[in-house]
Amino acid sequence: MPHPEAQFWNARYLTDKAHWARRQPYPLLRSYADQLPAAGLALEVAAGAAPAGIFLAGRGLRVIAMDISEAGLRLAQQRAHELCLPLALVVMDMSDPWLPPAGFDIILNFYYLSRPLFETYRQALKPGGWLFFETFVQDPDRRCNSAHYLESGELYSAFQDWEILHWAETWRKQGGNTLSSRRIAQLVARKIP
Ligand SMILES: C[S@@+](CC[C@H](N)C(=O)[O-])C[C@H]1O[C@@H](n2cnc3c(N)ncnc32)[C@H](O)[C@@H]1O
Repeated sequence: MPHPEAQFWNARYLTDKAHWARRQPYPLLRSYADQLPAAGLALEVAAGAAPAGIFLAGRGLRVIAMDISEAGLRLAQQRAHELCLPLALVVMDMSDPWLPPAGFDIILNFYYLSRPLFETYRQALKPGGWLFFETFVQDPDRRCNSAHYLESGELYSAFQDWEILHWAETWRKQGGNTLSSRRIAQLVARKIP
C-alpha cells in the first residue's frame, strides 16, 4: 500500500508536470550562491523536482535529492539529465528521518515541514555547514494545519545557537497575486564548528 503522502504528491506531479518542471531555484539560495562552497555534498530534502539541488549541482556540488514522491524525483532526474548534471535520487519518508551524522556541507529544505528534521539537521550537517530553510508560517487569518505550518519564531528558536546569517518572516506572493500572499519564514544558518 503506497504511503498517502506519496500518493497525493505523485498525483500532483503527474497532473502538472510542466509547472513543477520549470520551477526555479529560490531567491534565498541564489542570494548566497557566491558564498557557498564550490565542492562538497549537498542534500535537498523533500526536493520534488529539485530546483535548488539542481542549481547547486550546476555550481559543482554533489547533490542528493530526497523525497517520498517518485514522480517528483523523476522530474528532477529528467531536468538534471537535460542539463548534463549529476544528481543522486533517494525515495524516502522524511517524517521519521535518519541521516548520517556530519555528512553534509549544505542542507536545503524548501516548502516542507517535518519537525523531527530540526534535530536531524543539527546532527547531519558538518561543522560550518549551511542550512537553507524556507516554508509557510501559521497565519492567524487563515485556518492552517499546524503539522504543516511553522509557528511564528519557531524556526529561529530551533537554530538560535547557530550562526544566523538571515532570518525573516515575510510574505510570498502566490502566482504574482498580492491578494493571495502567504506568510513564510526564511532561515540561512551555519552550524557553529
Ligand atoms: C510543496 S512541495 C516542495 C517541493 C520542493 N522542495 C520545492 O520547493 O519545489 C513538498 C514536497 O514534500 C514532499 N513530501 C511530502 N511528505 C513527505 C515525506 N513524508 N517525506 C519526504 N518528502 C515528503 C512531497 O513529495 C513534495 O515533493
